[in-house]
Amino acid sequence: MSYLLPTYANFPLTAVRGEGARLWDDTGKCYLDFCSGIATCSIGHCHPKLFKAVSSQASTLMHCSNLYQTPQKQELAKTLVEDFVQTPGKVFFCNSGAEANDGMIKTARRFGHARPNENGEPRYEVITFNSSFHGRTLGSMAATAQKKVHEGFDPLLPGFRYVPFNDLEALRSAISDITAGIMLEPIQGEGGVNPAHADFLQGIAALCEEFDLLLMLDEIQCGLGRTGTAMGWQALCPDLKPDTISWAKGLGGGFPIGAFYVSDRVIDAKGTELSSLMGPGSHGSTYGGNPLACSAALAVLEEIRSEDLFTNIQEREQQIRDAVNGWNHPAISGIRGKGLLLGFALNVGEIVVADGITPAGHLCKNLMSNGLLTVPAGAETLRWLPPLNVTAEEVNEALKILKNTLDSVSKSEYA
Ligand SMILES: Cc1ncc(COP(=O)(O)O)c(C=O)c1O
Repeated sequence: MSYLLPTYANFPLTAVRGEGARLWDDTGKCYLDFCSGIATCSIGHCHPKLFKAVSSQASTLMHCSNLYQTPQKQELAKTLVEDFVQTPGKVFFCNSGAEANDGMIKTARRFGHARPNENGEPRYEVITFNSSFHGRTLGSMAATAQKKVHEGFDPLLPGFRYVPFNDLEALRSAISDITAGIMLEPIQGEGGVNPAHADFLQGIAALCEEFDLLLMLDEIQCGLGRTGTAMGWQALCPDLKPDTISWAKGLGGGFPIGAFYVSDRVIDAKGTELSSLMGPGSHGSTYGGNPLACSAALAVLEEIRSEDLFTNIQEREQQIRDAVNGWNHPAISGIRGKGLLLGFALNVGEIVVADGITPAGHLCKNLMSNGLLTVPAGAETLRWLPPLNVTAEEVNEALKILKNTLDSVSKSEYA
């Protein structure tokens, strides 16, 4: 008997301990964890520097209020803007990805009021893309263009319009005099590990310029190192200059924290900066940016830079691609994604599936039995999200489990 709302279709695993890329369950079984809390435990479980930062901050000051400043909040915002985004802007801290996206959407509405259409009416619509995932709050759920996420929650928050991903012409024709922004994941995570094409991203930037729209990036899953670059979009189209960016997941390495960035770019002839639109009283979050969460995030970002995890991420991606491409396995039709956000496209006709479960879910279950934790991305894609400091040996171990498991669930005899 469980007292938890049954919102999650759980795997049968009760986790009790983690260390690096390994997780133990309550029976003592050890797993190689290539799920990492779905791209969250970015420097592995219980990293000593993260543990030290959190425990020492917990014994000094856990929480005060956003009525006051803390050095940790200031320093984290400075690190994100100066070292990661590298374009002047301001940051707001919250507790999750959905909350960060809600803040970005509110910023677009403020922008639409500050820059009304030719009739003097505020613009408020944000265009998002089919198969996107932006979260489960009323705002971020409405931004998410997936029917299964909306089911039973009508009426949705108005002000969103969905268009096919990587289709610039469809996007252009969806822009109207109420459009305020275009919001996307540079690599769609939950929707199947679908990267935006470089020319699509360039095209979006040009449309934003032409129609005076905000370019809003959801980097919650693909940001902060995961793609082998500081920002997810840099792995696809380095010159992009987003107006707003949201983060969560890997930012705290397992400690709950979210954030969004708003550029300081000037939006009118009076010299108004975009970031100034979110002024006093416009937004808030009691726990957002508390010293404990900020200390955790500072330790994570420091580890990513000081250990040059970007190089490790790029090398491990190559190692995985070389091995899997070399197998030419009938159950895998291709690899999508960048860095350590990788999706193996499954040849679903090749996989023997149990009733009521998707091919990707079936494969994940079998991988779990064989000691490797992974996560599906939609029904037909297996996703790997190992910690950013995963070693070559751990990757080899995971590849071996993947290969053996694919052989066991495939219809074809693999020679
Ligand atoms: C791209 C993206 N945006 C937003 C979210 C929502 O984040 P959270 O679950 O922290 O609210 C997720 C979660 O999977 C995500 O992958």
